[in-house]
Amino acid sequence: MRFLGDGNDGAVWESDRQTAIKSLERRDSYIRERDAYLRLQERSIVEIQGFAIPILVDFDDTKQIVEMTVVFPPCILDFAKAYVDQSPDFSAEVIRDWREETAELFDADWDKVESLLDELECIFYFDAKPGNIRFSA
Ligand SMILES: Nc1ncnc2c1ncn2[C@@H]1O[C@H](COP(=O)(O)OP(=O)(O)O)[C@@H](O)[C@H]1O
Ligand SMILES: [Mg+2]
Repeated sequence: MRFLGDGNDGAVWESDRQTAIKSLERRDSYIRERDAYLRLQERSIVEIQGFAIPILVDFDDTKQIVEMTVVFPPCILDFAKAYVDQSPDFSAEVIRDWREETAELFDADWDKVESLLDELECIFYFDAKPGNIRFSA
């Protein structure tokens, strides 16, 4: 399998059937990612404002693996820190700091990122960074 990348929560490989296989170390991250993809699947959301979102193909609760389609920029991926339905119990100050830091990361692209995050609605996405919301290859 070809290695696609990794980050704080997991490692991702491309399978022989051209899907991305993400293996997550932490149980809570796995559950969040699985549930976000299940919600996206339920709503048939495969892209937002021209940004592709992986489609859930399969998952394994025992192995803590999520299988999804491979996406290419522009795309949004990595839902390990996404909260479905319920905004996490972060203080207003934490959220303000998060917004400031994230806005700096994206610089001129921040407006677009904000509008993407707004459209996710019931999914509160707290891992906006250029490796996860990709504008170009
Ligand atoms: N569905 C996918 N299609 C293409 N590349 C992917 C896909 N999922 C992950 N990747 C690649 O693997 C990297 C790590 O995946 P990610 O979900 O961000 O892991 P982590 O939660 O550990 O940050 C991404 O930055 C991206 O380069
Ligand atoms: Mg990531």
